[in-house]
This record gives sequence, structure tokens and C-alpha cells, in this order.
Amino acid sequence: MDQPGVSDAIGTITLSFSATGAKAAALGFVLARAHWGCGLGSEAVREVLRYAFETLRLEQVTAEAAAHNLASLRILATVRFKHMESFIDASDDEPCQRFVLDAGIGLRLLAGAD
Ligand SMILES: CC(C)(COP(=O)(O)OP(=O)(O)OC[C@H]1O[C@@H](n2cnc3c(N)ncnc32)[C@H](O)[C@@H]1OP(=O)(O)O)[C@@H](O)C(=O)NCCC(=O)NCCS
Repeated sequence: MDQPGVSDAIGTITLSFSATGAKAAALGFVLARAHWGCGLGSEAVREVLRYAFETLRLEQVTAEAAAHNLASLRILATVRFKHMESFIDASDDEPCQRFVLDAGIGLRLLAGAD
């Protein structure tokens, strides 16, 4: 029987939308540590970007990552996110980086043109 609060999920990946109705969303992803280093993060990000740009036809996707999380920074760089700014996360005082990916660049990458 399923236990309340216990899940078989090994991670989550989300697109969050603001109330402004802009054709943009914020990407978030987290994977259980036991599954790091197998390429799952990279694969999930590419597929959600495909959904964001090809199906939802968003114009822009943003993302934030802790400055110490080299795997997430690498994933965002590989799919051509552009650095916007550095900031301190108020919830835990961690240095973070904010990135943006425009649809034109994202679609070219997903089509294998870049
Ligand atoms: C980000 C996260 C999902 C990584 O997923 P993953 O499946 O382990 O990542 P991958 O195996 O796809 O590796 C991604 C890249 O990072 C590189 N990498 C992995 N660990 C690394 C490390 N410690 N240092 C440098 N590069 C690293 C990999 O070699 C790979 O690069 P490549 O594509 O050039 O081969 C995982 O670290 C995580 O859940 N972090 C906490 C949450 C978070 O930071 N989310 C991101 C912002 S919302």
C-alpha cells in the first residue's frame, strides 16, 4: 500500500508561469543524489525545453542555479542558456546565478543546428 508522503519519484522538473500571461516560464529541476551523473538531468532538461518551445510555443525560459552546483551550471550552459545575473538566495544566503534562453536559440539547438 502507498505510504502518505512517500514517493517512487527520483526527481522533479517544472515550468513555472507568472501571472502576467507572458510567453515565458521558469525552469526548475532536482534529482535524487543517488541518480546523479547518469545523464538524466541533461535528458530531462532537453525534453522539457522541447515541450516549452515546440508545444507551448514559449518565447523565453529562465532558470536559476546555485553557484556551487557545477552539474546544473553545466547543463544550462550546454543547452545555451545565457547568464543574466548573480544574486544571493534570500532563503539560504547561497550565491546563485540566473540564466535565460530565448526560443530562437533553443529551437535551433533542439533541431541540432548548433
Ligand atoms: C542538476 C542535477 C539535476 C544534475 O543532474 P545529473 O543527471 O546528475 O546531470 P548529468 O549527468 O546530466 O550531467 C550534466 C553535466 O554536468 C557534468 N557534471 C556532473 N557533475 C559535475 C561536477 N561535480 N562538476 C562538473 N561537472 C559535472 C556532467 O559531466 C555533464 O556534463 P556533459 O554534458 O558535458 O557530459 C542535480 O545535480 C541536482 O538535482 N541538483 C540540485 C538541484 C539543482 O541544482 N537544480 C538546478 C536548478 S533548478
